[in-house]
Amino acid sequence: MELVTFAPGSGLLAPRAALRSDAPSLDLNGTWRFRLSPAAGVPEDFADPGYDDSGWAELPVPSHWPLHGHGAPAYTNVVYPFPVDPPYVPDENPTGDHRRVFDLPEGWSGGRLRFEGADSFARVWLNGHELGFWTGSRLPAEFDAGPWLRPGRNVLAVRVHQWSAAGYLEDQDMWWLPGIFRDVTLTRSAADVFVHAAHDGRLSFDGPGGRLDLPELGVAGLEPGAEVRVAAEPWTAETPRLYDATVTFPEETVRLRVGFRTVSVEDGVLLANGRPLLLKGVNRHEFDPVRGRAVTVETMREDVLLMKRHNVNAVRTSHYPPHPAFLDLCDELGLWVVDECDLETHGFERVGWRGNPTDDPRYEAALLDRMRRMVERDKNHPSVIMWSLGNEAGVGRNLAVMAGWARERDPSRPLHYEGDRSCAHTDVYSRMYATHAEVEAIGRREEEPLDDPELDARRRAMPFLQCEYAHAMGNGPGGLAEYQELFERYPRLAGGFVWEWIDHGIAHPAHEYAYGGDFGEPLHDGNFVIDGLVFPDRTPSPGLLDLKKVFEPVRITFPEAGDVARIVNGHGFRDLSHLRFTATVEAHGETVAEHPLEVPPDGGEVRLPGAGAAGAGERWLTVRALLADGHPWAPAGHEVAWSQTRLPTTPPHPPLRSAPPALSGASLLSGAEFEGRSGRLTRLFGLEVEGPRLDLWRAPTDNDRYSGLEARWRALGLHRLTHRTDAVERDGASLTVRTRVAPAATDLGMRATYRWTAAEDGGLLLRVDVEPEGDWSDPIPRLGLTMTLPGDAVDRVTWFGRGPGEAYPDTGLAARVGRWSATVEELQTPYVRPQENGHRAEVRWAGLGPFRVSGEPVFGLTARRWSAAELAAARHRPDLTPGDRVHLHLDLAHQGIGTATCGPGPLPRYDLYARPATFTLRFTPS
Ligand code: GAL
Repeated sequence: MELVTFAPGSGLLAPRAALRSDAPSLDLNGTWRFRLSPAAGVPEDFADPGYDDSGWAELPVPSHWPLHGHGAPAYTNVVYPFPVDPPYVPDENPTGDHRRVFDLPEGWSGGRLRFEGADSFARVWLNGHELGFWTGSRLPAEFDAGPWLRPGRNVLAVRVHQWSAAGYLEDQDMWWLPGIFRDVTLTRSAADVFVHAAHDGRLSFDGPGGRLDLPELGVAGLEPGAEVRVAAEPWTAETPRLYDATVTFPEETVRLRVGFRTVSVEDGVLLANGRPLLLKGVNRHEFDPVRGRAVTVETMREDVLLMKRHNVNAVRTSHYPPHPAFLDLCDELGLWVVDECDLETHGFERVGWRGNPTDDPRYEAALLDRMRRMVERDKNHPSVIMWSLGNEAGVGRNLAVMAGWARERDPSRPLHYEGDRSCAHTDVYSRMYATHAEVEAIGRREEEPLDDPELDARRRAMPFLQCEYAHAMGNGPGGLAEYQELFERYPRLAGGFVWEWIDHGIAHPAHEYAYGGDFGEPLHDGNFVIDGLVFPDRTPSPGLLDLKKVFEPVRITFPEAGDVARIVNGHGFRDLSHLRFTATVEAHGETVAEHPLEVPPDGGEVRLPGAGAAGAGERWLTVRALLADGHPWAPAGHEVAWSQTRLPTTPPHPPLRSAPPALSGASLLSGAEFEGRSGRLTRLFGLEVEGPRLDLWRAPTDNDRYSGLEARWRALGLHRLTHRTDAVERDGASLTVRTRVAPAATDLGMRATYRWTAAEDGGLLLRVDVEPEGDWSDPIPRLGLTMTLPGDAVDRVTWFGRGPGEAYPDTGLAARVGRWSATVEELQTPYVRPQENGHRAEVRWAGLGPFRVSGEPVFGLTARRWSAAELAAARHRPDLTPGDRVHLHLDLAHQGIGTATCGPGPLPRYDLYARPATFTLRFTPS
């Protein structure tokens, strides 16, 4: 068998819809026999029904064999892990032979063998007869098994090669994971149906015969090609109304869940059911840290539930059609879906797109085949609102062929493809990682023109979406709120899809989660595969919590200092009557009053009961929108949206005054001991301490690294600051220590003056004045103090400030003001590749075991059991082991986070530049 064939398959039956049928079917998943060979040319005798496979391993199907101890996974983003020389592949070609014996039930005859997905080139034999081969890893393949089935014992043999000519079409940024990774069935179903159901109630279907019944709407015996109009409630992602229908054929009856909805483009605006559609989306790869892309239906459901609970309303199935059950869940629970074809040839970019299959006539049949198999399989899903031709496959003639066929087969759905800026074959203008400024220009229809005026005019009339933006790699993404603000301001902007849903970390005994390189791959892209909104175990990352806030379908603002809340309905297709609203008043983090709020179904201004009365201490009012009743995706009481406002306070915060002279001895100041000569603090309230001293460094985030900032910071030496004491001055009530803090090998530096005074309450005030010297032209990582305490001094931290999660200047939208508590361990955000994390913002005070630190008025707090240097050096989480110190960072400011791993760095207002600064902290014994 020649692996270099351009043909997409042989012996295949025509593609058809994924349908639930009452025709008998046999589940062939389960334990198969398996043998891995290092090359393709192994004898084919294993296909013989009499072959003795007793010496073979056992392997579950569906699965990827490298995740079961046979070979290893490999990760590359853009580059091919084999020479770019289509259609050839290396001799080293992992080849997995699979065997399964099954008994045919009594009276069974005929049927189809159906494979939902095998990566990447598979041949199949039934009882020693070769049925054919197929490619297109994430697409179904069906073979007529009928003539070769025998009563009783049957032997199915499948050979899967990892590499083939078709592999050039599957260069998606993900692990290379061969195997039969989706379900295998023997089915007697053969039906195909294409249902058309528009939001105005028009209903019809195409099919080879059959009669459609939809009892709930009184439809009975509808024939193919005939149209009726019914009084149906439309389907939307917000109101996923489905109607049970059946289509009855002589041999079988198929069940469908019909959703009535229409997608269109009018005046350059994307519409669903005639109303503007704003996509609040994520890009979803199928992934599980143990099973790879062989995900279970439970995992799919968990994804959809998590998305719904975080206000996500759309999914792009990057970059291939998902398991068909996922789309059933999207229909049922409500998500708008851009269904993407299994096509990416990104690695050709590295060779100047020479030989790109997208433009190679020899690959035309394969590309068309992929498009057909996707559209035919998924055409009945109301959730699917757009077909995407693929991802990052360059440009070329075969796109026109795919698009031409799809338009004819299904004129009801717009076409998407990002890789061709001219949009010659699409109905929407799509980009990835465009900056805020560019998105705004496009929103205003003021984008740079294309050279071809005709194409330019066409594109200018299209709606715009960002099929990828806000790259969620590591700590971040920043800039979410500003993108959303633009999407909501300009009607042409139909929103977008954050990159991406999940970190593809593979469970690993030593590393916790493995990424590129951890399996010894000679060519890999490191942790670029760890860029999700949820961690590999699906715990939401701070990025997802932020996204939930940004995507809120209800906007709550406070136009009149706490007396009135303005509630705006941001849903596209429903009012607010499914929500209940509450107003909570907290004084210093303690709830002092809670009221229900009556909000009209269309929103409006609502007077807040009793919230306006002033009181002592810092008081905050929080208005929350909760699900009034349970929904299939979340229970009653689930919080959908919230907003806070600070209430007026009386009396004003008392000014802090220094106590009268309290210096006892040369080095002792109210609970603090200083070393006489250097002015260094050595003990604080009985604890042995190091610091606080000025610090500018943070363990670089992935975004710091990709933006180039890390390299500039390291070149400056910000990770190796030196400290010099210039003067220690005592005058009555205070101790002043004048220092210069600077990296070696440069004349840049910071004058840092620490002024310690005793406070009336037995505490200690520290005022730090910072004065940069020299030409500081780059943003700096942070500006703050670092100190360490004995490890056993602090276990739990309690603070009043923003929480409970981390926040940086352009992230942390989910962090609200309150009183929070967490252990030092819990304060760490478990980014798969360790980096700066865990900073709590706008902290008024924090209880740290034996003492409390207060800001004047606020500070940023980070506490860890390792240093920033150790954090920066770690590659995986298990590299971090708790030391015998607690490292505290008490910050005035941090550099923004941005999304420079892909896309723009922080917006200019989130850059932190060296500047003269003063900040004051108060230390008091607990
Ligand atoms: C895009 C690509 C994605 C992913 C992302 C970076 O260019 O479409 O598949 O590679 O960049 O994480």
